[in-house]
Amino acid sequence: MAMSPAKITSEQEDQMFRLLRQLDIASDGSQRVTAAAIGVSLGRLNALLKQATDAKLVKITDRNGPDKRARFGYAITSRGAAEKNRLTDQFLARKLSEYNALHAELTGTASGLSPLKSRTNLIETNLAPIPELYVSHESAQKMKMEAADLVSHDLTPRQICDLELLMNGGFNPLKGFLSEADYNGVVDNMRLADGSLWPMPITLDVSEDFAASLTAGQDIALRDQEGVILATMTVTDNWTPNKALEAEKVFGADDDAHSAVNYLHNQAGKIYLGGPVTGIQQPVHYDFRARRDTPNELRAYFRKMGWRKVVAFQTRNPLHRAHQELTFRAAREAQANLLIHPVVGLTKPGDVDHFTRVRCYEAVLGQYPSSTTSMSLLNLAMRMAGPREAVWHGLIRKNHGCTHFIVGRDHAGPGSNSAGEDFYGAYDAQDLFREHQEEMGIEMVDFKHMVWVSERAQYEAIDEIEDKDDVTILNISGTELRRRLAEGLEIPEWFSFPEVVKELRRTKPPRSKQGFTVFFTGFSGSGKSTIANALVVKLMEMGGRPVTLLDGDIVRKNLSSELGFSKEHRDLNIRRIGYVASEITKNGGIAICAPIAPYATTRRAVREDVEAFGAFIEVHVATSIEECERRDRKGLYKLAREGKIKEFTGISDPYDVPASPELSVETEKVDVDNCAHQVLLKLESMGLIAAD
Ligand code: PPS
Repeated sequence: MAMSPAKITSEQEDQMFRLLRQLDIASDGSQRVTAAAIGVSLGRLNALLKQATDAKLVKITDRNGPDKRARFGYAITSRGAAEKNRLTDQFLARKLSEYNALHAELTGTASGLSPLKSRTNLIETNLAPIPELYVSHESAQKMKMEAADLVSHDLTPRQICDLELLMNGGFNPLKGFLSEADYNGVVDNMRLADGSLWPMPITLDVSEDFAASLTAGQDIALRDQEGVILATMTVTDNWTPNKALEAEKVFGADDDAHSAVNYLHNQAGKIYLGGPVTGIQQPVHYDFRARRDTPNELRAYFRKMGWRKVVAFQTRNPLHRAHQELTFRAAREAQANLLIHPVVGLTKPGDVDHFTRVRCYEAVLGQYPSSTTSMSLLNLAMRMAGPREAVWHGLIRKNHGCTHFIVGRDHAGPGSNSAGEDFYGAYDAQDLFREHQEEMGIEMVDFKHMVWVSERAQYEAIDEIEDKDDVTILNISGTELRRRLAEGLEIPEWFSFPEVVKELRRTKPPRSKQGFTVFFTGFSGSGKSTIANALVVKLMEMGGRPVTLLDGDIVRKNLSSELGFSKEHRDLNIRRIGYVASEITKNGGIAICAPIAPYATTRRAVREDVEAFGAFIEVHVATSIEECERRDRKGLYKLAREGKIKEFTGISDPYDVPASPELSVETEKVDVDNCAHQVLLKLESMGLIAAD
């Protein structure tokens, strides 16, 4: 029987796959060895090599030596490695269907649906190795040298997280940053162009200038923040996304109150690049190394331990007793082992830092029987996209070898929108997960809301308590816990473990002992510096924490002397102030800033920088432009009116009035001392200053 053309193609693709794999693990081998390794004749190998070199998947390497015939070797290129990654899935799928057919023939079951088949399905999805995008160590060394000559992109922290999970198979089936067609499908209906389910756009955002410097099909190097080359990427797609549409479709609203929407509009580059990625090395982590596992490492661990069913618990918060109880129950219900799988990449701004959390997890881990439970850290950059995020988390956990996944109330919720309402319904995530779980190949265990029943001194699921009216039900919300920590109040033993509370108190002392930033903003001559100076003196008089003044003029002299007043320069100036203030705040000091800071987006970025470590108090010194011009202390307004100073804020340059500052002070009828006092009262009401 004549072979169909499709059959020929797949055989050729299999051979190409074998060739690329062989050259990845053993480049420069003689043709005879290579041909034998991939099971083709020398003639066929030559044809394959020609095809591969023409397509730039393989390159000829010159080997010095006396034997002319042995002078040439072949090595895989980064493009070849990406092609190998693409062909791997096809190869595995083909082999699996051949296996199924063979199995059906052997057992006489035409459909292949026998008990053995379901066992192979389990092996296929949960325990068998998953494709990665890395090349072999040997090829990586060569590619790294070559990649040094490529144009390179310095990855942002979020992109590094994404790249790590792309390369290690955590984002399987993705083979690189999304192409435009895949992106459109994902945004529109959570599907890649080939129809596979994928809810989250994994995109490489870059600046317009960088994107414009590239040509289609160009290879670029992807570097971490120290300049280490982690991967190469063949740029197949380069486009301007419709970010408003992305925000609406993926995050449910084009509202900057959503941290990922804010990131999309105000931090991410304007252009997206797409294309296959070739992994050269994993991002380096110096912290908690032993606790980090790739999907294949976890799969191997589950194989070794004989864990057939594994329920994963995703978290970005410290674990307390209620979590322990619910994870126990989930595992019992699914008759599965338990994987505590906390996110240590990027979580919601303001979360407890991962160092503290991991120390807390380690303290709690002893409460679980070690043979049933394990913990592994996931370097994921969360987007807080609720329902879509839950599905994404499920796919990631499936890739990590888990069979079940706990989805709670308001899973990966981003908090309130700008109208003060929730972005998603409390159970939207569970609904969307349920809808797709069969296709995903991972089962949802829905989260029970656990509460403490005083009379019985135990945790129970709220919807299972029959005598609700006769017992005392206790619970402490996340907000209440933060309040108690901030104010140094008692946290009862029924709520958490003493080791966890101790750890949290260590990193989060009460607010009156934490660092914070007061950020004055207003027109030139509004009185910012004068009030800031008075505040500094009052705070120094109180003592306890070091106080630093970052006044507009001082900063421009010491930190930003080369900058002018264009938007770009002002932004840079304010970001520098924000950086210094965030460092001061982190280290328990008080930073008092007093620049004009005319742009709301920049002020917001500074707020985010600071709030990662402590409170940020924006104070609008709301003196009108007319009053500032009337005072004209430095004579600058006159010069600005005469056109002698360009881009002067309020005269020939914009000022975004703060929409919701913590405090707004009026200087026209109120004296400086009183203004500074208002700030002190605000600080006191926020618990930032207190009597010792
Ligand atoms: S910004 O926009 O926040 O970077 O400005 P800032 O660093 O606070 O610097 C403002 C001080 O610089 C003087 N100056 C100008 N201000 C506004 N626009 C223009 N074009 C300009 N040129 C010079 C001005 O005296 C500001 O001083 P302050 O302390 O605000 O009175």
